[in-house]
Amino acid sequence: MLKASSKVLSIFLFITPYEFFLKTLINLILLLPLGNYFYFKSMDSIKNYIEENKERFISELIELLKIPSISADSAYSQDVINTAETVKKALKEAGCDSVEICETPGYPIVYGEKIIDPKLPTVLVYGHYDVQPADPLDLWHSDPFEPVIKTTEKHPQGAIFARGACDDKGQMYMHVKALEYMVKTNNLPCNVKFMIEGEEEVGSESLGWFVERNHEKLKNDIILISDTGMIANDTPSITTGLRGLSYVEVEVTGPNRDLHSGLYGGAVANPINVLTKMIASLHDENKRITIPGFYDKVEELSQEERNEMAKAPFSLENYKKALDINDVYGEAGYSTNERNSIRPTLDVNGIWGGYIGEGAKTVIPSKAFAKISMRLVPNQDWKEITELFQKHFESIAPAGVTVKVKPHHGGQGYVTPIDTAGYKAAAKAYAKTFGKEPIPVRSGGSIPIVALFEKELGSKSILMGFGLDSDAIHSPNEHFGIFNFLKGIETIPWFFHYFANK
Ligand code: BES
Ligand code: MN
Ligand code: MN
Repeated sequence: MLKASSKVLSIFLFITPYEFFLKTLINLILLLPLGNYFYFKSMDSIKNYIEENKERFISELIELLKIPSISADSAYSQDVINTAETVKKALKEAGCDSVEICETPGYPIVYGEKIIDPKLPTVLVYGHYDVQPADPLDLWHSDPFEPVIKTTEKHPQGAIFARGACDDKGQMYMHVKALEYMVKTNNLPCNVKFMIEGEEEVGSESLGWFVERNHEKLKNDIILISDTGMIANDTPSITTGLRGLSYVEVEVTGPNRDLHSGLYGGAVANPINVLTKMIASLHDENKRITIPGFYDKVEELSQEERNEMAKAPFSLENYKKALDINDVYGEAGYSTNERNSIRPTLDVNGIWGGYIGEGAKTVIPSKAFAKISMRLVPNQDWKEITELFQKHFESIAPAGVTVKVKPHHGGQGYVTPIDTAGYKAAAKAYAKTFGKEPIPVRSGGSIPIVALFEKELGSKSILMGFGLDSDAIHSPNEHFGIFNFLKGIETIPWFFHYFANK
C-alpha cells in the first residue's frame, strides 16, 4: 500500500519511485519543510516531464506554425494578429498569471508575467511570433504552412519543416513549454516576464516604441532570448555577439522614359550599367569596403581573442560542400568565421530594372534599383554608416544619371561579456543538459532590438539559441530539429535554476 501510494506520488511529482524514496528520507532527516521539499527535489523531473509530454509539445508547435504570420506582407495582417492571440492563450495555459495583448502603432506585443516574489530576480524572455515570407514557394518540398516531420542528415531524430519552425516560433515556444514545466512542477525559482513581438523580421519598430514607454513594466535582471543558433547538436555554443545592420534602397534614374537601345544606345547613360558599376566599386581588390570612414570605428580584436575564436570546431571542406561552392570568398586577411561575425559587410540583396520578361526587348531602361544591406560590428553606429553610404553613393554617380538613397531600418551590434552571472548560468545549464561546456561564439546575424534593450532597460541579453546554420532560416525548407526543440525545453529551466541560485 505504502509502496503503491509512493509510486503514485512519485509519478505526480515527475520523479522515479527510487528518487522519491531517497528524497523523502533526506527530507525527514533534515526536517525540511514541505515547501522546500518541492524545491529540493526540484529539477530532476525535467527529463521525465519532457518524455511524457513531447508529443503534445510538438503538436502544439505544429498548430502555431500553421498560421502564416508574415509581417512583411500586409495580405497576412489578420494572420499575424491571430498568432498573437494564440501565443497569449499558450502563455496563459502554461502558467502566466496575467497575459495581455499590448497594442502598438504596428503589430501587437504579447506580454505575460508570473511574479512569485518581487524580492526575487526577474528573467525577461523575448521572442518573435512573426516569420519571413515563404517565397520562393516552388523550392519548398512541402507547404511552408503545413508542417511535416522528416529526418535529415543533421537531424536523425527528425525535424519540423515549416516557415518559422526555427526562426522563431519553435525557439520561442521552447520558453513557453519550459515555463509550463516550471509552474506545473513547482520549479519556478524566480519571476518571469514574457515579451513576444510580431515585427522582428521587419525591424522591430513598434517594439522600440513599446520599450521606451514601459521601462517599469519591463524591469528585469536579465533578458533571455532563443533566436540564434549553436555550432552542432554535439557542440553546444552560446552567442556572445550580434552584428548591427544598415539597410538601404538605391534608385538610379537616367532618361525620363525607357528608350530604344538602338536609337539611343551609346549616347545616354544606361542606369543598369551605371548601377552595377557603382555597386562593383564599393569593394576593392581585397574585398574591403571602399566607403570613406566605413572602418573608422570597427572594433579590432586582439590576436589573443582571434586565437580563441579559431578554437571553435570548423571544417572549411564541409562548409563548402554544404553550400555547393568550390571556394569561399571574402575580405583578405580574415578566416571564414571571422568574415561572417567580427567583420562588417556590404551585400546587394536584390537588384532590378529593365526588361526581364520572355524573349528579348531592346531597351535602355529609365531606372534601376537595388536593395543593399551592411552588417556592422560593435562600435559602428548604424545611422552614421547609413549617412556615410548615402554621401558616398551620391558622390560616385556619374554625370547623366541621378541617384536616390532611401534608408530602411537598421540597428546596433551587440557583444556580451562571458564573466557575468547571466552567461555563467547559461553555460552551466548547457553543461548540465549537453554534458559539454558550451563555446562562446559571435554570430553574424542581427537582432537590433538587443542593443536597444541594453540602452533603454539597462539589461544584458543572454542568447541561448538552439538552431543550426543548416536549418535554412529565411530560406525554402526551413526546419527545426525535434532534438533541438526538446533540448531547449530541458536547458531553459536549468538556466532559471542557476540564475536564481547564483
Ligand atoms: N533570428 C534572426 C537573427 C539571427 C539568426 C541571429 C541566427 C543569429 C543567428 C532574426 O530573426 C533575423 O532574421 N534578423 C534579421 C534582422 C532584422 C532587422 C530583419 C537579420 O539578421 O537579417
Ligand atoms: Mn529571429
Ligand atoms: Mn529572422
